[in-house]
Amino acid sequence: YKRITTKTLVDMKKRGEKISMLTAYDYTMAKIVDGSGIDVILVGDSASNVMAGHETTLPITLDQMIYHATSVVRAIERSLVVVDIPFGSYQSDPKEALRSAIRIMKESGGHAVKLEGGKEIKESVKRILNAGIPVMGHLGLTPQSIYKFGTYTVRAKEEEEAETLKADALLLEKAGCFAIVLEKVPAALAEEVAKSLTIPIIGIGAGNGVDGQVLVTHDMLGMTYEFNPRFLRRYLDMYAEMTNAFKQYIDDVKSSDFPNDKEQY
Ligand code: KIV
Ligand code: NA
Repeated sequence: YKRITTKTLVDMKKRGEKISMLTAYDYTMAKIVDGSGIDVILVGDSASNVMAGHETTLPITLDQMIYHATSVVRAIERSLVVVDIPFGSYQSDPKEALRSAIRIMKESGGHAVKLEGGKEIKESVKRILNAGIPVMGHLGLTPQSIYKFGTYTVRAKEEEEAETLKADALLLEKAGCFAIVLEKVPAALAEEVAKSLTIPIIGIGAGNGVDGQVLVTHDMLGMTYEFNPRFLRRYLDMYAEMTNAFKQYIDDVKSSDFPNDKEQY
């Protein structure tokens, strides 16, 4: 195997090879995802929802993100590990953004950071890049701004927001981002953005005209069931599989079937 780098991803776009990306927040899951041959592992701040049970991504802290990222990095042999900078750890000013990015890189060993937003984070992106840290952008539905949007519905359906998004994507490319996540926007708009930029656009709910796809691993495994957006394809019904396994175990314990003669010393 060869390690995936930010340059690999840009080369993949040039060749027209799609980029696969999934989330992981812990060692065991990261080991399976990396071993399966995924290109990019995102230590997403979706850990706030998936791991901690919060309603939004806002509460997760930088320390908690670093804990998740550290666990993931220990498992990786090939994938590029991108770590979300959480809400409140980069919005105040570019210096704070750089400090947070440095902590993530130094303490977790991750390979790149991801920030949400466009022109409002331009100076922060530049500052982080000047320190030699690769930055992935995130536009469209940016969950750290959910209280501004007021809804998790599709973004940039209207002309004005679509124009802003296109300008922001170009700005992020010019600032030096190596890729951008586009979340929950019309497929035609996402395709237009992907075609107009040289850096890869990785979509989630952004159609098939982009350069790669990302999903939350727990969602695509069917471990979560309250979350049912149209873009989510479930590859397993892990919720049912696990429930069956747990029920079987409970039965086996209650009936004294487990452990048997061979399962003891
Ligand atoms: O936190 C996350 O999982 C993300 C992806 C959905 C892109 O940002
Ligand atoms: Na995120």
